[in-house]
Amino acid sequence: SAPPSGGMIDPAALPALFAPRGPDTHKGSFGTVGVVGGGPGMTGAALLAARAALKTGAGKVLVGFAQEAAPLACDPLQPELMLRDARSLLEADLGVTAWVAGCGIGTGLLAANILSELFVLRREAPLVLDADALNLLARGEIQPGWGAGPVVLTPHPAEAARLLGAGTADVQADRPGAARELARRYGAWIVLKGAGTVVCSPQGALRTNPSGNPGLATAGTGDVLAGMLGALLAQQLPLEQAVAGAVWLHGAAADALVAAGIGPIGLTAGELADAARRLRNGG
Ligand code: APR
Ligand code: MG
Repeated sequence: SAPPSGGMIDPAALPALFAPRGPDTHKGSFGTVGVVGGGPGMTGAALLAARAALKTGAGKVLVGFAQEAAPLACDPLQPELMLRDARSLLEADLGVTAWVAGCGIGTGLLAANILSELFVLRREAPLVLDADALNLLARGEIQPGWGAGPVVLTPHPAEAARLLGAGTADVQADRPGAARELARRYGAWIVLKGAGTVVCSPQGALRTNPSGNPGLATAGTGDVLAGMLGALLAQQLPLEQAVAGAVWLHGAAADALVAAGIGPIGLTAGELADAARRLRNGG
């Protein structure tokens, strides 16, 4: 069994992250990501996740905004995305193979209702829960009745503390312990973010991420990570490689941007996906 603090995530152990595409593949081979988030005033959070999912190789990416009507007909910077309001996305049953929920979704009743519906209709498709989805869970406004199929929770230290009913300092004092306790409570994969992101399997196996830098300390980088996780899950990488791979890739993208002088100061979240794409393609 894994030692208490586990080992480091090693890209050499993530061959699926760099595997070339077969010549006769088509967009259906790479899955469909459904992003559910982006409440009023937070449209960009869902777009950041969705754009990152596309550039991390998902075949198709759909967005359902947690607003009464979709705030945009089209993302002018990424017109490949299909934009809806969340309710019509959930009702349409468009063959989503991995869900990313919570980025900018807000903590109101609409958000809670949409998430509760998603937990039922996802059946066994992998589900990433981030940001306000975690805050709603911590407040008991949504229940962890999300059925079978993998679930990945991506708390930053304050979100982890809310879920555990502890203080942020307690989480930071024992990050592996906090991740393992969340994994046990929720039966989920845990990505406990912050410098040295800790990944814990539902069975309690721990790994720490060596990539990344303080350039990531800027708004929206967590949304990008959630989109990358959804993309790798939709592409059906082996589960452990998808979770550890997204975390490693996200940090390595930031490291590549810093090496190119695009950060740490002033690195923006949206730039990560291009850098990650280059890394996946061997560049
Ligand atoms: N070193 C390495 N990685 C870092 C560092 C650092 N010093 N600082 C931040 N990161 C990484 C984290 O590991 C994580 O992957 O940047 C990402 C930050 O994610 P979030 O904290 O979720 O930030 P953000 O995307 O802005 O969140 C958007 O969601 O969680 C809520 O409260 C949050 O409302 C905010 C929204
Ligand atoms: Mg966040």
